[in-house]
Amino acid sequence: MKPPTPTSAELTPGQVAQRSGVAVSALHFYERQGLINSRRTSGNQRRYKRETLRRVAFIRASQRVGIPLAEIKRAMDTLPDGRTPRRDDWEQLSLGWRADLDRRIEQLVRLRDELTTCIGCGCLSLDTCALSNPKDELGKLGPGAHGLDVDEASYTLKESDRG
Ligand code: FES
Repeated sequence: MKPPTPTSAELTPGQVAQRSGVAVSALHFYERQGLINSRRTSGNQRRYKRETLRRVAFIRASQRVGIPLAEIKRAMDTLPDGRTPRRDDWEQLSLGWRADLDRRIEQLVRLRDELTTCIGCGCLSLDTCALSNPKDELGKLGPGAHGLDVDEASYTLKESDRG
């Protein structure tokens, strides 16, 4: 039996995948995350509105600069009536994300410089190695084990440890 032809306003998952360069499995994932949506035909097949292509382009562009899906969803949720991001939306959101990107680049440059001092060393000294004990934060707490109190994601101490 021939598969139903989508109306001109709708695309099959295969068509969206082909035109966006995103795998069908990724489309299903985006849908589960609430980033895109589809309707089901009477044969339980997905159909996407054409604007889904723009939503997928928005998601992909955002992901390429390292924006997590949860943040992308949060940004999309701020748009009125769940509309697809327009040119001015992308302009505004990308401006805010540019600042995040600058911050991450700064962190990476700092880490690269710290790693450079480790190359050919291997000491992992708690006194001198900036990577094994960033800014000697643990030393400020005095003797004893404090590793579990460190917020490893940011390499900074929790506020409650600052005394
Ligand atoms: S390993 Fe020696 S300074 Fe990092």
